[in-house]
Amino acid sequence: MNSTLPLVGAPNDRVDGRRKVTGTAPYAAEYPLAGLVYAVMVTATIGKGRVTTIDSRDAYHVPGVIAIMTHENAPRVDAGTANDPTAQEVMLLQDDVVRYDRQPVAVAIADTFEHAIDAAARVIVHYAPDQPAIAFTRGERYTPTEIHGEPAAFRNGDPDAAIAAAAVKLDNVYTTPVYHHNPMEPHATTAIWNSDGSLTVYDATQGVDADALTYAKTFGIPLSSVHVIAKFIGGGFGCKGTTWSHALLSAMAAKLTGKPVQLVLTRPQMFGSVGFRPQTHQRVALGAGRDGRLVGQIHQLTAQTSTFGEFVESSALISTAMYPPPNIAISHELVRLNTATPTYMRAPGESTGSFALESAMDELAVALAIDPVDLRLRNDVTTDAHGLPFSSRSLAKCLTQAADRFDWKRRNPQPRSMRAGDQLVGLGMAAASYPAHRSAASALVRIAADGSVTVQSAGVDLGTGAYTAFSQIAADLLGVPIASVRMELGDTQYPSAPVAGGSQLTASVGSAVKLAVLDARAKLLALVAGDAASPLHGVAADSIQLMNGGLYASGGRGESYAAILTRHGLANLEGRADAKPGNEQKTYAMHAFGAHFVELHVDATLGTIELQRIVSAFASGRIVNAKTATSQYYGGITFGIGMAMLEETRFDDRTARIMNANLSDYLVPTNADVPPIEVIIVPEEDTVVNEIGVKGIGEIGIVGVAAAIANAVYHATGRRIRDLPITPEKLLLA
Ligand code: MOS
Repeated sequence: MNSTLPLVGAPNDRVDGRRKVTGTAPYAAEYPLAGLVYAVMVTATIGKGRVTTIDSRDAYHVPGVIAIMTHENAPRVDAGTANDPTAQEVMLLQDDVVRYDRQPVAVAIADTFEHAIDAAARVIVHYAPDQPAIAFTRGERYTPTEIHGEPAAFRNGDPDAAIAAAAVKLDNVYTTPVYHHNPMEPHATTAIWNSDGSLTVYDATQGVDADALTYAKTFGIPLSSVHVIAKFIGGGFGCKGTTWSHALLSAMAAKLTGKPVQLVLTRPQMFGSVGFRPQTHQRVALGAGRDGRLVGQIHQLTAQTSTFGEFVESSALISTAMYPPPNIAISHELVRLNTATPTYMRAPGESTGSFALESAMDELAVALAIDPVDLRLRNDVTTDAHGLPFSSRSLAKCLTQAADRFDWKRRNPQPRSMRAGDQLVGLGMAAASYPAHRSAASALVRIAADGSVTVQSAGVDLGTGAYTAFSQIAADLLGVPIASVRMELGDTQYPSAPVAGGSQLTASVGSAVKLAVLDARAKLLALVAGDAASPLHGVAADSIQLMNGGLYASGGRGESYAAILTRHGLANLEGRADAKPGNEQKTYAMHAFGAHFVELHVDATLGTIELQRIVSAFASGRIVNAKTATSQYYGGITFGIGMAMLEETRFDDRTARIMNANLSDYLVPTNADVPPIEVIIVPEEDTVVNEIGVKGIGEIGIVGVAAAIANAVYHATGRRIRDLPITPEKLLLA
């Protein structure tokens, strides 16, 4: 992957584009299987309590009904114990306890989807409700010990004393509400028990391998007896990174009925048993000298989790990477509420944490009368809070390049000073960071005797362009046209891969593809080295390139892969590799960085906000495909617009029920809400992060957007909104 490899970085069209737009790319609920029956969940209408009776008589009168599965007749499965990760997530009709609103309490199974919907609607569930706790002040508080294996709290020096003694200080609370993932494709599972006792599942999942493990454990069968397929999924944003109740319930329904079962969530059920971003309450205290240099920083998170599981929204971690001063403390605290267990949502931690930190930095800039871009440049660092050097850090370039493109210097820093007719004009900015994750991954590269190439990995393309990116990497390294590469993903029968989450898939699987090509190369070189019939016989291996569909040395001396394989009587030749993280994880801080600049108009009378323009720059190591990468950034920024201005899950405090579980009351950005977005890709070489120098781009786009919008709203109006979302009534009141 160097300048002689033209495809990597090129804005190639998606290799799966035609299948997507012609509707022939199969999603989890689009496999036409013989004898398929349909399942629809019945979900709880209380926030806490017990099911007393379930009356299914009317439901059984619906034509085509096969079964109504409840806690009374559901197959017994291992639904986990308190120490088991599965127990934190799934409710599998093993008892009569209701732990949250919209928890599955029954499943109707019928010959058609329509009959199943009808039957589900006729199941009458009686409850004995308890008083739920939904308010932050009402739940049990505790301090988790770790976040995804990292310590949940960290301290350097004495931040309280440093802030108290600082020339300029602030100490504020920022809050974010519950957000629900709303990918276009709802969760869906098609489950088939085969005659040999094995299970085949077509699942809307971000990771087939982890998914298969949960099925194996729940049903007490060997992992080798579970085959999970996820060829295409219609978005995930983190909610499809976990195997939730409905997925296991469809396999239970298949067991109960002895038929293949398809279960698709309704849009309202997307607000039930499949996770969400927890509400956060963040204290950020900053102390700085008159020169703008931070001397002390405190970032304390309180977030919700459920009564039966733990998920930590790791909001304060971002403070260890952005501008950590010598005196810094971060901490995370949880409150148990009567909801489902929260989960990962696009940039879990960084999205919410950046709203608090980057709003606070803007407030500090105002207090110091220093330009907010300049304030961040003055606080740029070379090591993170743990003292680890950054493998690469292009924050300053992102800030200055985006500021130039945006023409930031036209900004009068005085709030309410810029107008366009009767609109208040706001210009605001914020910075962004997201860690460069990777996990162990494997890949197979198979060169066939006709010269075509097949590449396989279990990794899932959640709609981001993974098929295309890996095709480009393989094509470039092998020196073949991208059209010669058949990329196969999303199947547990392929070499293992981690979940497509944490922005890690390209780094993880791309590195494995590279190593698998190197393995194939070594095997090809061994074939020609000992072969007197090869034009490359006797040529030094290090002067032989993989190019033009074969092995070639200088002067065009060489031969095609097809010629080599054919002469040796080989149908194909395979390269395999397992790639994994190395010691760099302990010796470097590895992050992508970015910056957003927002222009918006606020109607001074009505408080309505209209975004005008967003310019964002990102440095995220090597970019494999400039087109799909830019689309990822657009998507992340759009997600940030929703987070800042539109989205908010509302609960009834008395019942813990969600009041806006649909897309007409839970608002997500549509085209009319999204202004022109300009993305600047800041070139960055990083030889530390992984074999291919990729940092991942799926999540950094959202980080900092809400703060940039809040900061622009402050500039327009003089009103500092510290509670998301920023809605007109918050600008009219106060
Ligand atoms: Mo992403 S929230 O890590 O799937």
